Amino acid sequence: MATQVELSPEYTNTQPDEVLERIAAVRQRLGDRLVILGHHYQCDDVVRFADFTGDSFKLARLATERPKAEFIVFCGVHFMAESADILTPDSQKIILPDLGAGCSMADMATMGQTEEAWNVLTEIHGPESYLPITYMNSSAAIKAFVGKNGGVVCTSSNATTVYDWALKQDKRIIFLPDQHLGRNVGFEMGIPLEDMILWDPFKIAADNLATGVSDARVVLWKGHCSVHERFLVEHIDQLRKEQPDVQIISHPECTFDVIQKSDFSGSTEKIIKTIEASKPGSKWAVGTEINLVHRLAQQNPDKEITSLSGISCLCATMYRIDPPHLLWALENLEAGNIVNQISVDPETSQWAKIALDRMLSLA
Ligand code: 13P
Ligand code: SF4
Repeated sequence: MATQVELSPEYTNTQPDEVLERIAAVRQRLGDRLVILGHHYQCDDVVRFADFTGDSFKLARLATERPKAEFIVFCGVHFMAESADILTPDSQKIILPDLGAGCSMADMATMGQTEEAWNVLTEIHGPESYLPITYMNSSAAIKAFVGKNGGVVCTSSNATTVYDWALKQDKRIIFLPDQHLGRNVGFEMGIPLEDMILWDPFKIAADNLATGVSDARVVLWKGHCSVHERFLVEHIDQLRKEQPDVQIISHPECTFDVIQKSDFSGSTEKIIKTIEASKPGSKWAVGTEINLVHRLAQQNPDKEITSLSGISCLCATMYRIDPPHLLWALENLEAGNIVNQISVDPETSQWAKIALDRMLSLA
């Protein structure tokens, strides 16, 4: 993967207000040639320039619905920009303002590890015995692998629909790479915990098989989000003791125990809609990334909204998209220099699109 170039002092030494003014000006000059998409975890000074905001599912759909834009500047993380590239025609350029904006969870399933697990498990039960599901938070290569093997992508907003479809295929499921989303949604769909067993990519096959993973209805990949794993049951217990009327809503990347103790769970978009629709005066503790929690608190002044955790749960890679990088990307585009284009090779793209289109047709 290409690495991010260091920005020149023209961008790093400019006063924050001037950076914002220049972004607004260049954005206006680029007009309809440009669409800026912003994930809900982006900071306020980036979100203010987004033409559309959303969770990863909504943003993927929005990318497909803007065929006239020459440039889609994706203020989010790498796997989201890759998915937008796969779903849009070659004539549209997808730009990620900082190439360092990755996702540690997506990096937890590599192709080599995935193929090894697949080969070991299908060797036991036969090549048609498993259906792979990958969370959107995975590389294009993993999505392509899933597409090639009859599987599908899911996001946190459509995982139950996708799971339901997969369970009807009457196959065992391999869920990549987030064990928590896979377990939380699997349990919601009626699969007992003991029928969902972890595959640890850092263990040898024999050690994995010793856990009984090949008998499981669902094989859960041992990946996680380090931001969401920081929300703990102890936080919920403490909050409920201090404020018995608080309602807790958490992202399904949180652990099973946290989700079981929360009142609601859902994608970033669902979290926003649930809180917006709640009664004035209601109290909420939110188990998700801090930029979104702060924005929710600002936009709902009639409600009390805090983070579920006392420690600030920030997604450091999302945070790499900052106003100086956005300005640098936009001014370069205007000058005819296409910087930080995210481009998936045609072979990978073709197979990954099958898995993404399957998701879009279900949800
Ligand atoms: P959403 O699809 O709910 O926005 O989640 C994406 C993500 O990366 C959460 O960590
Ligand atoms: Fe990845 Fe977690 Fe950041 Fe979401 S919050 S982009 S899963 S590291």
